[in-house]
Amino acid sequence: MSSQDTPEENLPAERAADEHGAVRVADEKDPFADPGLPPHEHRIQDIDERAAKRSERAVAFLFTLSMLATIGFIAAFVAIPKDEIVYIFPLGHISGLNFALGMTLGLALFCIGAGAVHWARTLMSDVEITDERHPIAAEPEVKAKVLADFKEGAQESGLGRRKLIRNTMFGALTLVPLSGIVLLRDLGPLPEDKLRHTLWSKGKLLVNMNTNEPLRPADVVVGSLTFAMPEGLEEHDHDFQNEIAKAALMIVRLQPDDIKDKQELAWSYEGIVAYSKICTHVGCPISLYEQQTHHVLCPCHQSTFDLSDGARVIFGPAGHALPQLRIGVNDEGYLEALSDFEEPVGPAFWERG
Ligand code: FES
Repeated sequence: MSSQDTPEENLPAERAADEHGAVRVADEKDPFADPGLPPHEHRIQDIDERAAKRSERAVAFLFTLSMLATIGFIAAFVAIPKDEIVYIFPLGHISGLNFALGMTLGLALFCIGAGAVHWARTLMSDVEITDERHPIAAEPEVKAKVLADFKEGAQESGLGRRKLIRNTMFGALTLVPLSGIVLLRDLGPLPEDKLRHTLWSKGKLLVNMNTNEPLRPADVVVGSLTFAMPEGLEEHDHDFQNEIAKAALMIVRLQPDDIKDKQELAWSYEGIVAYSKICTHVGCPISLYEQQTHHVLCPCHQSTFDLSDGARVIFGPAGHALPQLRIGVNDEGYLEALSDFEEPVGPAFWERG
């Protein structure tokens, strides 16, 4: 790489000279010869220190503006309510928070980019260079030269000399990542033990999911598969879908003599057993029941559970039996829960006692 001040000097040796050493400059006889670079024109900042100072202040102003915009982003994120709607012409009614976040983050990034470009165009080294052709594999000397050029470039950029630019740029670059950190708030509160509990508790009636009516033992006939949810859960409830998913039950009536597991028998009512409808593999809803074998099948990956034997897994990838809900009948003859599930429902990766 070399610097040039005149057209002749601009020509690299291998391209400027033919095999006899004669320089080929474009003319009427040889219009395809290398014309070289035009004379170099110095920038105003290179010859006028006051102009250089003006550019320096402009760059510092842009970086400072970026810092203020980032602070504005954080302030907007904390201060503006999520559900506040504002009218912005010509956008119409939009979320005030989204508008403020977009504008401030956009301004912060734009100012960093504009400051860097203005700095490079007006104050960094203005030497014109020519990239000479050479073999692709770099020689050790070339690598050493690249390193030297890099150091020279760093020195010529004035990073060490122009402290105002350096400090404001570092300030802007340091503050911008904070925008990402405050967004962590949107991950929401920790679930804590909510994943371990459902809406079932002692005395909650079992309500038929199809009819929305409380179930009596007579409603559950042999051979049928009934889905139930806790009483008092309305569709407009907040988190309705989540709560349904966790609390959904499937209810089956077996002959008490067919029940092999003692705990299952103790937790049932006259052969009626209630199990979580959520597969313990990855949480699909179970929906297929085979009356003769008392097996239920998960349609997602074919895990099969034996309802006559504690809903243990007899086939498929599920790693745990379905959780059973203890049920009984209240004074009015309706099926009710006697407690919440004794273990977490759903995928088997939850800790279980
Ligand atoms: S989710 Fe049921 S078997 Fe995979």
